[in-house]
Parts: sequence; C-alpha cells; structure tokens
Amino acid sequence: MTERTFAIIKPNAVRSALVGEILSRYETARLRIAGAKLLHASREKVAGFYAEHEGRPFFEGLCSFMSSGPILVLALEGENAIADVRALNGATDPAKAAPGTIRHAYGPSMGSNVVHSSDSTESAAREISYWFSPDELFSYVQKSSVADE
Ligand code: RTP
Ligand code: MG
Repeated sequence: MTERTFAIIKPNAVRSALVGEILSRYETARLRIAGAKLLHASREKVAGFYAEHEGRPFFEGLCSFMSSGPILVLALEGENAIADVRALNGATDPAKAAPGTIRHAYGPSMGSNVVHSSDSTESAAREISYWFSPDELFSYVQKSSVADE
C-alpha cells in the first residue's frame, strides 16, 4: 500500500554532513521525498513532538539534543513506507541495530541515534501534520533515471 511516513535527520547527522548519505539510502529504497525542510526547532516544539515520552528519564536530554541545531524533517512516500523506513533506520539503540542500517553505520548512542521515523499509520499522520502544512507536501512518480523522462 502506498503510504507516507515521517522522518527526521537529527542534529548530529546534519552537523556531520550525513544528510546526503541518509537521503540517498531512502531514495535508493524507492521512497519519494514528499516533503523536506531544514529547521532549528525550539525546545517547546520538540517537547510537543515527543509528548508521549514526557516524564521518562531521557526526556529532558532528548529535547535538549533535538533542539541543539538544525534538523531535516521529511515526509517519505512509497509502498510500505512506514515499515521500510523503520527497517532502513534500524533499532533505536545503535549498539543493537543490524549491519546495513543507518543507526548501525552512524549512530553513536541511544540518545543521539541520527534518525527518527514514525512507528504506525496513526503516528505518521500526526507527525507529518505536526511539522508540515498541506501545501508543503507533494506526490509524483519516481523514475529510475532522468533518461526515462
Ligand atoms: P524514533 O522515535 O526516534 O524513531 O525512535 P524509536 O521509536 O525507536 O524510539 P522511541 O522509543 O520512540 O524513543 C524516541 C527517542 O528517544 C531516545 N531514547 N532514549 N532509554 C533511553 O535512553 C532512550 N529511550 C529512547 C532515542 O533517541 C529515541 O530515538
Ligand atoms: Mg518512536
């Protein structure tokens, strides 16, 4: 089923020049970039996004980290996009992430695991609308090369 998911390239990955590498992995997996914005979120904006984790021991550190610099927020569209992006990202703890995943390759620790993605249809819808307005989202057909145009 064609669906959209929401992803974030976290501040440490932006600072470490990993945006191109991570986007390339998504595009190579036939995910289309339906929305993309570089922004520096306030602590309050991040806290609202992670509201489900409020009160947990890692919450304050997570909010500080996620508001420490620019992030790239993404809406990604494709067949099984939600599960596929979770699989490409790998397990939350980079030490447990499978070889070949983004977090295995680049994640230094649980608290700074370079990427986020939605875990369900409901969270994808909520998260996309939390960061994007409808006029910032696009659908198009992905071609295998520009020669196909
Ligand atoms: P994400 O939402 O970032 O894709 O990761 P996730 O679903 O795999 O992880 P989640 O449980 O939603 O947690 C959100 C982020 O909080 C940080 N975290 N730290 N015990 C800890 O220290 C801990 N647990 C979670 C991680 O950075 C995680 O991505
Ligand atoms: Mg999560």
